[in-house]
Amino acid sequence: QMPQLEACYNLMDFETVARYVMKKPAWAYYSSGADDEITMRENHSAFHKIWFRPKVLVDVENVDTSTTMLGTKVDIPFYVTATALGKLGNPEGEVVLTRGAEKHNVIQMIPTLASCSFDEICDERKGDQVQWLQLYVNKDREITKKIVQHAEARGIKGLFITVDAPQLGRREKDMRTKFDDTGSNVQNTSGENVDRSQGAARAISSFIDPSLSWKDIPWFLSITKMPIILKGVQRVEDVLKAIEAGVHGVVLSNHGGRQLDTARSGIEILAEVMPVLRERGLQDKIEIYIDGGVRRATDIIKALCLGAKGVGIGRPFLFAMSAYGLPGVDRAMQLLKDEMVMNMRLIGAAKVEDLTPDMLDLNGARSH
Ligand code: FNR
Repeated sequence: QMPQLEACYNLMDFETVARYVMKKPAWAYYSSGADDEITMRENHSAFHKIWFRPKVLVDVENVDTSTTMLGTKVDIPFYVTATALGKLGNPEGEVVLTRGAEKHNVIQMIPTLASCSFDEICDERKGDQVQWLQLYVNKDREITKKIVQHAEARGIKGLFITVDAPQLGRREKDMRTKFDDTGSNVQNTSGENVDRSQGAARAISSFIDPSLSWKDIPWFLSITKMPIILKGVQRVEDVLKAIEAGVHGVVLSNHGGRQLDTARSGIEILAEVMPVLRERGLQDKIEIYIDGGVRRATDIIKALCLGAKGVGIGRPFLFAMSAYGLPGVDRAMQLLKDEMVMNMRLIGAAKVEDLTPDMLDLNGARSH
């Protein structure tokens, strides 16, 4: 018996339901992390090492959770991050996320390896809805150039180049379901033969260029006017390089724990990065985002207090979409919005700009 949607009171509940209703290979692909999944678990638990120092007697009658990301005004500081193969969980695929994002005025990042075609997902936009594109860089740069310029022509407002995946990590749960094809809809957008023996993830990723390097960044800047953001940066030295390279942003991320196991969480990296940027007066030179393990509005608030512009959320919307379709995505986003208003009240912040580092006690987490 499937629990009623109204019985989902937080983002974790969708995962619990999805686990029992999803087809096995789909569940394995969405839920898996790399190797021992230590980083995947750490992503959420890292938030619990940070404590709040709330302010009292602040007028919080009217709370405004809106902010801007890459110049776009959004209702709440999260975006739907790129996750491949939406049709594994829902026959309609990524367009379900497009509809949910539109309803809540948040941004959707379209994955290179979407199940729906890129144009279908663009066509689903309503009004002035904003989408970004996540890019896996092809060994054949002409293909990549076409994808990028087509995206710009279709009105995409940000190009997120994934830099943490020169090779796909080993997701063993995914690999174990390799012979079971039911419900999977694996395609390789590069048109190469698909080798299913390595699980869904590896089957679709053989076109990705492991030689991609800092030397390629000027080329990307020269082929598009879209802001360029590097997704998957994990150390302050690379943030400084990104600023020097002239990109517009970075996502501090370990790919949802699906790449290098025992890499640090985004929130911990953020705590390393921001003090260094402030020390050098560079904090306004680049927009910093994080993703990985964001499940509660308190997680979002902690990231903003430390100096992130916003956070990406992946699996919860996949699970909501797989279990309940659009109503599930809608409810997941509404739950986060409600949590956000409540927790901003409780911490003593009436607007996003009121969220400052002094409202946190980093305690066990890294601080410089
Ligand atoms: C991802 N992620 C991802 N990232 C990327 O750059 N390209 C991709 O194709 C994918 N595909 C993908 C599939 C699935 C099923 C998951 C769960 C994740 C990583 C994603 O963008 C993001 O970094 C994490 O999902 C964030 O962690 P949470 O919110 O899922 O914990």
